[in-house]
Amino acid sequence: MKKIFVLVSLLSVKIISAQNTIVLNADKGKDIINKNIYGHFAEHLGHCIYGGFYIGDSNKTIPHKDGVRLDVIDALKKLKVPVLRWPGGCFADTYHWKDGVGPKKERPSMLNVWWGNVKEDNSFGTNEFLNMCELLGAEPYLSGNVGSGTPQELSDWIKYTTHPNSSSPMTDYRQKNGRPNPWKVKFWGLGNEAWGCGGNMKVEYYANIYRQYATFMTDWNNSDKIYRIASGASDDDYHWTEVLMKELPAGMFDALGLHHYSVINWSKKGSATDFSEEEYFTTMKKALQMEELVTKHSAIMDKYDPQKKKHLAVDEWGGWYDVEPGTNGAFLFQQNTMRDAVLAGATLNIFNNHCDRVKMANLAQIINVLQAVILTKEEKLVLTPTYHVMEMYNVHQGATMLPVEVASNKYILGKHTLTAVWASASKDKNGATHISLVNVNAKQAQNVSININGASYKTVTGRILTSDKMQNYNSFENPNKIVPAAYSGAQLNGSKLSLNIPPYSVVVLELK
Ligand code: AHR
Repeated sequence: MKKIFVLVSLLSVKIISAQNTIVLNADKGKDIINKNIYGHFAEHLGHCIYGGFYIGDSNKTIPHKDGVRLDVIDALKKLKVPVLRWPGGCFADTYHWKDGVGPKKERPSMLNVWWGNVKEDNSFGTNEFLNMCELLGAEPYLSGNVGSGTPQELSDWIKYTTHPNSSSPMTDYRQKNGRPNPWKVKFWGLGNEAWGCGGNMKVEYYANIYRQYATFMTDWNNSDKIYRIASGASDDDYHWTEVLMKELPAGMFDALGLHHYSVINWSKKGSATDFSEEEYFTTMKKALQMEELVTKHSAIMDKYDPQKKKHLAVDEWGGWYDVEPGTNGAFLFQQNTMRDAVLAGATLNIFNNHCDRVKMANLAQIINVLQAVILTKEEKLVLTPTYHVMEMYNVHQGATMLPVEVASNKYILGKHTLTAVWASASKDKNGATHISLVNVNAKQAQNVSININGASYKTVTGRILTSDKMQNYNSFENPNKIVPAAYSGAQLNGSKLSLNIPPYSVVVLELK
């Protein structure tokens, strides 16, 4: 009898642990998922701009508009890129925007000292970038040079780009350079990684510099209010956030940045494609740390700003591995596997769930650099697994976040554990509810039971991104190895939804 009892207990433990449960609070939606959480980042680094977006206006082999690749624009329009940060990164604090405007023949060249000392001929500058954003339907986010620039230079950039015609020598200069009217540029960064490549400053010093620069970023002559983003903390540097919240006058900033890369070890990052389960696990551990980072930085901000008027902009995030063999080490060109799809899906769920404070995030970087959504090689173009996750998740952009309570199994490797299932949900303007789910576990599929509170639905449909190996990727030779597929594995039974998610997979469900 005792033996039978033990067996039954063990079995029930196994059954319970095989089941993940989620409560979907469909009637508790309050906060909007800002579409800018699905933002991107483009730096003058490797082949992100040159060879990625821009191929020059005399190119005869690849279709383009004013030198900007049209296949790239088409693919990014499908992604609904809401905001694009430019020109860096570390590059931003070496960039002098006036070198990149006016007749191309007269633009001076410089060395790109952060990224391989290659020649930067400034043929892609402010006009090219802002016109490209208009083509893309994305809002620009200009990252100002605070590290080696001047307040005057940044103030002039604002006038050149946004002030009404004939209001300053800068607006006359804009017209002379062929742009009849101002662009719309709301988002401005004041330096990048001020604690590192942006000047190696202490936060107390940066706070003063910030106040000086912000003072001269007047938008008094401009109908669109400027949104200022301070160079934020690296990872868990909570002191940085604390000092900025304390020292920056409320009227002078709108958001603090935060940078967090999922890197195994800065001196040995490992291959992007040829990795072990241990390496996968460590990458995921670093990625999932985003939950703690966002929670703790937000808690500090809450002390000074309980009404959450100031935002967190995670303006660099993503996976960082060794460059592809045979490529320039300074160009940060890496492939993109199912590991990256899982990383992106889980991170975006974290941002969605924290949308009361996180109003922007910018994946690093959009083309050919780090966790790119597009890879290009001459006329060829590949959409990465990360692209497909961003496309599947774009249903959340601008939707009302529905809180979920997730009781997940553990993903165990040796002595270490991670939460296996990560989810978020939202209701869009047409009344459809979307739930995005990620199974981080590399070995075991997860049964998930979702209890729906506060709404009733008639149908469920879905899409899945999965592959038979987590190291799989889309190559120039086989660009469609990993693409989203219709998913019919979810069963709706009254207020209960059940599904099974394969290992390292991403699922998005639609309930109507
Ligand atoms: O994204 C690559 C680099 O990483 C950026 O230039 C810098 O801001 C960060 O350290």
